[in-house]
Amino acid sequence: MNKKIEKILCDIEQQGWSVQEHFFSTELTQQLKNTLTSLRQQGSFKQAGIGRENNLHVEQTIRNDEISWFGEKKLTESQQKFLNITQQLQDALNQRFYFGLFELEVHFALYSPNAFYKRHLDQHKNQDSRVLTVITYLNENWNKEDGGELQLYLKNGNTLSVVPKAGTLVCFMSADFEHEVLPAKRERASLTGWFRKRV
Ligand code: OGA
Ligand code: MN
Repeated sequence: MNKKIEKILCDIEQQGWSVQEHFFSTELTQQLKNTLTSLRQQGSFKQAGIGRENNLHVEQTIRNDEISWFGEKKLTESQQKFLNITQQLQDALNQRFYFGLFELEVHFALYSPNAFYKRHLDQHKNQDSRVLTVITYLNENWNKEDGGELQLYLKNGNTLSVVPKAGTLVCFMSADFEHEVLPAKRERASLTGWFRKRV
């Protein structure tokens, strides 16, 4: 099995989260960024909401990013490549942990300078089909001073801070970790997804 995937499985087993720098190639993250740019030009990005179905609503004091779901337009080659790789991760997770994951629901996200997503949990109340959160960043030449870190609140009371650099993959058990996106000085681009099981 792919070494990087093996590392993720070990991390998930031991601590419930994993951060892998350079998980995706620069070539692929650049292509994904190009797809993002063209989706944006087509007007595919919408103000993100919170909650689900009947309860879904925009709440800009909690989050003020814009998102574009995969599958609303025909997938580009780079989106297919991304899904091929995450499919391998999904298969490996199922083999090791019997999670019964059957799909990755995923969207692009764009945070304007100063945009944020306050501390939250990704699982919706009364619905736990989201098992594992997977986040990928698309920001070339991102420095610590640019801000925009993902803060992950760990069980021991510590906080893990992740710099949103292109190619980094973060994943964590959706039910177990509250997290937050801090404001950035620059525009911040990412892909957020959830491996789901049937409920
Ligand atoms: C989310 C989220 C984190 C990030 O979209 O639910 O928490 O670092 N994103 O973009
Ligand atoms: Mn989240």
